[in-house]
Amino acid sequence: MAIEQRERTLVLIKPDGVQRSLIGEILRRYERTGLKLVGLKFLIPDEKTVREHYMSDENWLKSVGDKSVAAYEKKGLKAPFEDPIKCGEAVLERLVKYLSSGPIAAMVWQGNEAVGIVRKITGGTEPLSSDVGTIRGDLTVDSYNLGDTDGRAVRNLIHASGSVGEAEKEIKIWFREEEIIKYRLVQESILYDVNLDGIVE
Ligand code: CDP
Ligand code: MG
Repeated sequence: MAIEQRERTLVLIKPDGVQRSLIGEILRRYERTGLKLVGLKFLIPDEKTVREHYMSDENWLKSVGDKSVAAYEKKGLKAPFEDPIKCGEAVLERLVKYLSSGPIAAMVWQGNEAVGIVRKITGGTEPLSSDVGTIRGDLTVDSYNLGDTDGRAVRNLIHASGSVGEAEKEIKIWFREEEIIKYRLVQESILYDVNLDGIVE
């Protein structure tokens, strides 16, 4: 199999997605791209796993902290902490509560540019501003404003890995190697074969 066909990404349908009965709708949106589903499970995560998941990327605390500070500034408010890392830690505590509140569906998708394709379909972090046509933009209503007012994480239905490196680390947290299925999907010959021969009889 060519190297580009092997890129993998992790998707978690968060507890709000499961409670909204959106598992099928969300899966359908990823599935019809042509990406291959190679791992799938349904579980209630413990707090330790959620912490490990978000902390697996050492830059994540800072980047999520920056996002949080920007959201406060946009409202003309001061963030609770000046240090973005401290703001990131506050978001992490909210996320631990959110992700471990009920069952989630975890999946691994594989194929050319899997990380970028899945992020595009998922949409930006805040449902209020996620693009129309994306899962977060179409299927829910949350905003930084409401999340901060209620002191909770932004409920945006999905986690999707942000980079290939992030995906590799995150997949190991949720799946053992033998739980990821290696198989051929017939449509791969249409997606990837150099010559589309063998179609016409
Ligand atoms: O999920 P995504 O990669 O788009 O965003 P992130 O910056 O990695 O943040 C992870 C998750 O934290 C988001 O999906 C939100 O659920 C939550 N979050 C939040 O509640 N408040 C923020 N200011 C930023 C993120
Ligand atoms: Mg992220």
